[in-house]
Amino acid sequence: MKALITGANRGIGLEFVRQLIMRDAHVFAACRNPSKAGQLLKLQEDSPQQISIIKLDVTDDKSLSDSHNLVSSKTNGLDLLVNNAAVSPVDKGLGTFDSSTIKSILAVNMVAPILVIQQFAQLLKKGEHPRIVNISSGLGSLNRASESSTKKYASIYSSSKAALNMSTIQMAHELADHKIIVVSITPGWVKTDMGGPNADIDTNESVSGMLQVIDYIQLEDTGRFYDYTGKTIPW
Ligand SMILES: NC(=O)c1ccc[n+]([C@@H]2O[C@H](COP(=O)([O-])OP(=O)(O)OC[C@H]3O[C@@H](n4cnc5c(N)ncnc54)[C@H](OP(=O)(O)O)[C@@H]3O)[C@@H](O)[C@H]2O)c1
Repeated sequence: MKALITGANRGIGLEFVRQLIMRDAHVFAACRNPSKAGQLLKLQEDSPQQISIIKLDVTDDKSLSDSHNLVSSKTNGLDLLVNNAAVSPVDKGLGTFDSSTIKSILAVNMVAPILVIQQFAQLLKKGEHPRIVNISSGLGSLNRASESSTKKYASIYSSSKAALNMSTIQMAHELADHKIIVVSITPGWVKTDMGGPNADIDTNESVSGMLQVIDYIQLEDTGRFYDYTGKTIPW
């Protein structure tokens, strides 16, 4: 398998790299600052044939096209794209919003995944059983947002993930003729810089669950929203 993971230098993205190389995949591990990606560089040192580190800031058009040029110089096809990179700054609600912060969250969490898919679609069309996974969040579920327990969470982040989920559906329609499966998966509440130390599960459990979902999804599942255990999440 040939896989491209964004935000591969830490957290869930790094764990995807670790588990995919254990499955003999070749991973294009994309991150904004390769020279500072200590843990990823260490993984590459141990498995140099299996990891290509790709410089990619997902909000930067030039970086997107440069990363595409680099990946296509190394492979003719991609089997898996994981749109994992995201930001989740704390937001304090009405009275504290400013347009630049809102735009910067949407740029990473919602706009970039569309542009990454657009950039790498040709390589995915040539992949084997190609799949695109948008890493979403339970907070992006409109259904769950109406529950009072979710009210204290970041609203712009939630909106960005709800918008990402709509892109999943639209891209699933658009790419179905090319037999490319597109799904959203929520990783659970995971112990990372974003999830914090009190989260429910570690990256190992989250990513091994998501990889099982990725293994079993077929074309008829395209456009769906799963959690890391394989349960369907209401939009
Ligand atoms: N952890 C949770 O509990 C949880 C729950 C639900 C959903 N998620 C989702 O799971 C995914 C991974 O989250 P995580 O917990 O692993 O978060 P994390 O530890 O904060 O890692 C975020 C990753 O995104 C990268 N990133 C941010 N902006 C970027 C940009 N402009 N270009 C390229 N990379 C960028 C970061 O790179 P830098 O190191 O360069 O900043 C980092 O690699 C995200 O989509 C998140 O929304 C996480």
